[in-house]
Amino acid sequence: MGSELDEFVERVNERTDIHSVVSRYVPLTQKGGRLWGRCPFHNEKTASFCVSPDKGFFYCFGCGAGGNAFKFLSLIENISYFEAIKLQAERLGIALPERRSSPEAERRRREEKTLLRINESAQDFYHECLTKTARGEVGRKYLEARGISMNTIETFKLGYAPDEWEVLLTKLTRQGFSPQQAEAAGLVAKRKSSSGYYDRFRGRVMIPIADVYGHVAGFGGRILTGEDDANPKYLNTPETALFNKGKLLFGLDKSSRAINKAGAAVVVEGYMDAISLFSAGITNVVATLGTAFTPDHAKLILRYARKIIFCYDSDEAGQRATIRALPIVQAAGAEVYVVKVPDGKDPDEFVRKHGKAAFEELIQNAETLIDYRLNYVLARADLSTIGGKVQALQDILPAVAKIEETTVLSEYVKMIAAKLILDYQVVTDELQKFIAKENQSVRRSESKPQTVPGESLPPPLQVASENVLRMVWHEDDLLDYVLMVLPRETFSTTQQEIIDWLKQCMIQEKRADELSAAEELSEAANAELSRILLGGSDEPRDTEIKLFHDSIRALEKMNFKRKYKTLLIQADKYNSSSDSEAYVKTLKDSLEVKGKINKLQSNN
Ligand code: UTP
Ligand code: MN
Repeated sequence: MGSELDEFVERVNERTDIHSVVSRYVPLTQKGGRLWGRCPFHNEKTASFCVSPDKGFFYCFGCGAGGNAFKFLSLIENISYFEAIKLQAERLGIALPERRSSPEAERRRREEKTLLRINESAQDFYHECLTKTARGEVGRKYLEARGISMNTIETFKLGYAPDEWEVLLTKLTRQGFSPQQAEAAGLVAKRKSSSGYYDRFRGRVMIPIADVYGHVAGFGGRILTGEDDANPKYLNTPETALFNKGKLLFGLDKSSRAINKAGAAVVVEGYMDAISLFSAGITNVVATLGTAFTPDHAKLILRYARKIIFCYDSDEAGQRATIRALPIVQAAGAEVYVVKVPDGKDPDEFVRKHGKAAFEELIQNAETLIDYRLNYVLARADLSTIGGKVQALQDILPAVAKIEETTVLSEYVKMIAAKLILDYQVVTDELQKFIAKENQSVRRSESKPQTVPGESLPPPLQVASENVLRMVWHEDDLLDYVLMVLPRETFSTTQQEIIDWLKQCMIQEKRADELSAAEELSEAANAELSRILLGGSDEPRDTEIKLFHDSIRALEKMNFKRKYKTLLIQADKYNSSSDSEAYVKTLKDSLEVKGKINKLQSNN
C-alpha cells in the first residue's frame, strides 16, 4: 500500500462510526455499554449480535461473525474489504486518492479501454445496420416475427451483422483501430489461407453483452436460419480481456435497480428469455451466457438482492443445470427458489403466450430449494429397490440438513419417509449421521467464517487465553514474555494465527491495528480478535493486570497438568515393559511437575 492510500484509509477510519454504519442495516437497542440487535448474518429470534461503539467492533455470539465497521460492510454488501472502505468513503464524501498504479496495470487498463471503445463502435455499427439500412431488413423481419418491438431493440441496442466478410473490419480500421486490436476484441479473426482478417459475426442478429456498469464486454450473435455443426445457433465473443462468461450476467446493467427493488433476481438460461421477459415488464431478470452458474455470478446478484429465482428451461438439460447451480447459490448465502415453466416451454415462449401476469404467478408459486431438490430426486429415484431408496435419501439429505426450524424439519422427514416408503426412524437416523459427519468436516476446515473460534480450549481457559491476548494486543511488549512462559501450543489454532501475525508485525516493525488485522488475518482470526477485544471490561488498569497474571497462571497450570498426565502415562508404559531406569526417571520428572502445579496453586 502506498502511503497516500494509507492516509486515505486512515481518514475514512477516523470518521467512521460503527454505530451509524450498522444501524443502517440492523435496528439496535442500547443495553449496558453495548448495542444489541438481531444478527443479519444468520437466522435468529433473540438478539445475540452486539456492537461496541467505543471499541469500533461488532460481534455475534450466535454465529461468530465479527470485526470492525468495514468488515461489517464487506459481509453485508458482499464486497471485498477494500471495496467496503471505498463504499464508506463515498458515503462520507471522502474523495479517493489518485491511483498511481504499476506500468503493467496501467498498460492493461489502457488495453481494456481500447477494447471497450472498439466494442462500442461495433455495437453502434450493428445497431445502425439493423435499424437504418436495407441490409438490416432480414434482421428486422426476424425480430418482428419473434415479437420483439422497436422499443426493446432500442433498450438492448440490438443489431445486425451483415452477411459479408469485411464490413466491420473496414469500418473499424477507418475509425483508426488496427486489425490486431479488433482481433483482441474478438470481432475479427485472422484468415487461415491468406494474410488479413475477416469479420467473425456474419448474417446474425447481434446482442450486446454488458458488464454491470453498461460497458459492452462482448456479443452474442443469433443465426437467422437453421443452425448446423459449422454454424451454431449462437456465436459468442471468445474469451477476451473484457469478456469472461463466468463473471458476466446478461441484462444486469439494465435490471440491477429492479432486482434491488424486488429483492429478488430471476435467472434464465437464454438471452432471448431475458429480453422477452424484460420487454413483457418483468425487469428483474438476468441470463447466464450459455455456461454454468458460478459463485461469482451469485456474488454479483447478492449485491442487489438476497433472493435468487432460477427459471431455466424445463427440458432435462435445463433441470440438470438448475440442480448444479443450487449448491453454489446456497453456499453464497442466497435464498433460492426454482420456477418450472409448464409444458416444456422456455420463459420466452411462456411469457409471449400467457403474458406477464401468468409469469408472475409462476414466480409467486416458485418452489423452495428443498422442495425442488426433493421432487427432482423423487422423480428420478428407483423406488423398487432398497439401493435406489437409499441413494435417493442420500441425495436429499444435504438439502434437508440445512433446515433450521425443527417443526419444518420433522414435517419433511415424515414426508420423505412416506414418499420413499421407508421407516420414519431410518430417515431420522440417516439424517443424524449426515449432520454429524458434516459437523466434523466443518470443524476440520479452518477458514470457515461461521464457526465459533477457539473451540479447542475448555471454557474457563478459553476466557483466560482471551484475557492474555487482550493484554498483549494493547501492550505488544508483553508478547515475548507470554511466549516465554506459555508455549504457542497453549493457544487455539485461531489464536495462534493472531499471535504469529503480531510477532510478524513486531519483527517487520509494522503497525498492528484493527485495520491491518482485518486485511491480513483470516475470517476466523478476525472474529476471534473482535471477541477478545469486546470481552474486555472497562475496569481500572491494575485489575486488568491482575486478570492478566491470573490468566497466565491458569494456562500455565493447564500446561503442567497436561505434561504431568503424559509423564504418568509414559511411566506406566516403562513400568509394564520393565524398563526400571526409564520408569524411575520419568516418575521423578512427573513429581517435579507436580511440585510446580502445587506451587502455582498455593500462590493463588
Ligand atoms: P437457448 O437455445 O435456450 O437460448 O440456449 P435461447 O435464448 O432460448 O435461444 P432462442 O430462443 O432459440 O433464440 C441458451 C443459451 O445458451 C447459449 C446462449 O447464451 C443462449 O442464450 N448458447 C446456445 C450458445 O452460446 N451457443 C449456442 O449455439 C446455443
Ligand atoms: Mn428460446
